Amino acid sequence: MDSETLQRRRSSCAAGNNNNAVVGAKRVKRSEILAKKKAVEELIKAANAVMNPLEAFHAYRHFRLNGLCVCLKSGHGNQLSSAVKQYIQRLLKLNMEGPYGSEWLEEEKVKRREMVAPEARYIFVHEMADSSADEMRIMLTGEDASTPCLDDSGPLVGFLHYRFVLEEEIPVLYVYELQLEHRVWGKGLGKFLMQLIELMAQKNCMGAVMLTVQKANLQAMNFYISKLRYVISTMSPSKVNPMMDKSYEILCKTFSDEAKAVLEN
Ligand SMILES: CC(C)(COP(=O)(O)OP(=O)(O)OC[C@H]1O[C@@H](n2cnc3c(N)ncnc32)[C@H](O)[C@@H]1OP(=O)(O)O)[C@@H](O)C(=O)NCCC(=O)NCCS
Repeated sequence: MDSETLQRRRSSCAAGNNNNAVVGAKRVKRSEILAKKKAVEELIKAANAVMNPLEAFHAYRHFRLNGLCVCLKSGHGNQLSSAVKQYIQRLLKLNMEGPYGSEWLEEEKVKRREMVAPEARYIFVHEMADSSADEMRIMLTGEDASTPCLDDSGPLVGFLHYRFVLEEEIPVLYVYELQLEHRVWGKGLGKFLMQLIELMAQKNCMGAVMLTVQKANLQAMNFYISKLRYVISTMSPSKVNPMMDKSYEILCKTFSDEAKAVLEN
């Protein structure tokens, strides 16, 4: 074999090896991506399969501060009693009709559907019997007689609706609603619930906690951004396209470099 033919063979062999290497690398990359996708879906599935997420957080089952004494219960969207559904709708209207303004009628319908979705997870906040004079007032006057009680718990004073979902391929805990009755605002309960949610997100290996806030809801904006250190996500309309005039922002708090790179930067 002359040296030119040998050289040609060597080159074609090298090219073949290169091609094989590229195809191989692509295959590895593709299989890595698929494996990662599967792993992330498994995380969401596992998080959703936990029947009572509060079991792992004993310290968070009760909250006693500023004259308020409450206990927490967990729930699922497809297992709500009609009394609880009514309570949720009533509290949403009371708290959110103002911030949503003219969008409320449409939004109310959306929220009704979201409320009962099988993937909806809840934390219900029940006032406890030894709580405060407020509860005595309610009992004596019957002012809030329609407030439902579940088993041995006292009346509801608020709830948190969350879901485990994928956002930009990152598994996240998305807070759909955090709604407290006006009479329990400013006592640290909202912060306590969000701390619990962040722990739940991390225990279930979620990359972030995300939520949507109406821009007109200045109180909630201040609560999340100034007090709880949430930031406006890259997924928020104002970041995607500053010219887009939307009434809400999407906020997030991330727990991993990958989630930070995708959702914050
Ligand atoms: C927003 C909401 C969940 C906050 O819960 P909360 O129990 O009132 O808040 P907290 O008492 O835990 O307050 C936590 C911190 O935020 C501050 N904060 C709460 N409400 C505030 C307000 N209106 N203005 C200024 N600061 C406020 C508190 O001073 C506290 O700060 P600190 O830790 O330095 O003392 C509650 O007010 C609520 O249910 N609002 C109506 C529904 C709503 O808007 N939900 C959010 C929709 S996304």
